[in-house]
Parts: sequence; structure tokens; C-alpha cells
Amino acid sequence: MTESKVLPTMFVCDGCCCGRTEKGHNEVPVSRLKTAWQKEKLDKKINLKISNCLGYCSLHNVTVLKNKTRKTWIGKLSSKEHYDAVISWARDVAECGSKAKVPNILIPHLFLPTEV
Ligand code: FES
Repeated sequence: MTESKVLPTMFVCDGCCCGRTEKGHNEVPVSRLKTAWQKEKLDKKINLKISNCLGYCSLHNVTVLKNKTRKTWIGKLSSKEHYDAVISWARDVAECGSKAKVPNILIPHLFLPTEV
């Protein structure tokens, strides 16, 4: 029996606040994200989960990358460029694993749940 490998997962919130344009928040480009994952076969190396509320609605729109040892949180995603950077980050994770770096455009969006 082979040991199953646990893949990192990118949780992209599209819950009660994130992505709710009727609440004045930016749309979460769910189709674009899913298409990128499928087209680039990222799902073989990193899961994409469009999630319900991750618990930090005040930082809408929230995404977290969870790997074996840590969670990396980003919030206040508001533009196409931010989600393009999420895709680019996923590509880097697929290629470099835990050595992947958060794209520069997302660094100001990093947060620690303990500080919220
Ligand atoms: S709805 Fe996204 S963190 Fe609550």
C-alpha cells in the first residue's frame, strides 16, 4: 500500500461576505480560478477549494493557502490582479512546493488571524 500524499490546498472564500457584490464587496472570479486549475493541471499538485466563510469577513475577500505545516492568510483581495497573483502563487506552489513565495502584489494583504 502506498502512502497518500497530502496536497496543499488553496481555500478561496466565496461565502457570506467575500464576493458578495450586494454587500459592496468585489466578486470572486470562481470560474476563472477553476478554469486555470483545470487548464494548467494545477489540481495534481495543489487543491482549489471555493469555500464558505473562513471566519475573517472584515478582511473580505479572504484566501488561505494551507500546507502540511502552515497556513498563509491573505485578505482584502479586490482586483483581477490579486486573483491573477493567487493563480501565479498556485503555479509556484505546484512547481516549488513549500519553497514557493507569496507574490509581491499579495504581500501587503498577508495577515495573521491572531491580529484580526
Ligand atoms: S465570508 Fe469570507 S471570511 Fe467570511
